[in-house]
Amino acid sequence: MKHEFVEKNVGWLAVLTAVAISFGGLVEIVPLMNDKSATSVQPGLPVRTALEVAGRDVYIREGCYGCHSQMVRTLAEEVLRYGPASTAGESVWDHPFQWGSKRTGPDLARVGGRYNDEWQRIHLNNPRDVVPESNMPGYPWLAEEGFEPGEVPAMMKALKAVGVPFDDAAIVRADADVARKTKADAVVAFLQSLKFPKAVPLTATEAQP
Ligand code: HEC
Repeated sequence: MKHEFVEKNVGWLAVLTAVAISFGGLVEIVPLMNDKSATSVQPGLPVRTALEVAGRDVYIREGCYGCHSQMVRTLAEEVLRYGPASTAGESVWDHPFQWGSKRTGPDLARVGGRYNDEWQRIHLNNPRDVVPESNMPGYPWLAEEGFEPGEVPAMMKALKAVGVPFDDAAIVRADADVARKTKADAVVAFLQSLKFPKAVPLTATEAQP
């Protein structure tokens, strides 16, 4: 009877639905706010180079995330296929993070080093040259476009403003680092950087008890 009352009175239905959803949200979100592992940086996480930052920007511009996730789930089959499960600490410097959930193609969070640069360049230009059954589109124009002076330093400054620890010298050097590089070079550098960060071994002094 009570259920019928709620279903027949749209005002109550809206209010009670909002209460139920808010409760669900709080239960999921509040514990995470207090979980340090979700906000502290994964040990050994490298700061991206100028070329990788530029490549990441092209990755977002071209909508690669529409078909590729960058988050290995904790399921056994994912870990066997891709590598170590993703941690929140790997994405602390990723604005916006590229986790995604749409996988028309494979997850890319561990693709760094799986193929060499040449394979990646050919694949980006026309995937069917290396994977005949692929339905991924080709991006031939990326091999013809470069970067405007000032473009990459601006990206790095914006990321620095939201907490990515680029040092100023790297920002100053950025234009020189990407000069004569194409957008394809940048995407390949970015893809090769996608791997689980290796924890930096403790130095002898740090390891002392
Ligand atoms: C329409 C969907 C689609 C889009 C958009 C797309 N891909 Fe793919 N991608 C795929 C599919 C499907 C595969 C698997 C077949 C293959 O290897 O080509 C794949 C494979 C890959 C692989 C090889 C992964 C592996 O582990 O073998 C890389 C790297 C890759 N894509 C990068 C990119 C980049 C970079 C972009 C954007 C510039 C992009 N993809 C856009 C569908 C897509």
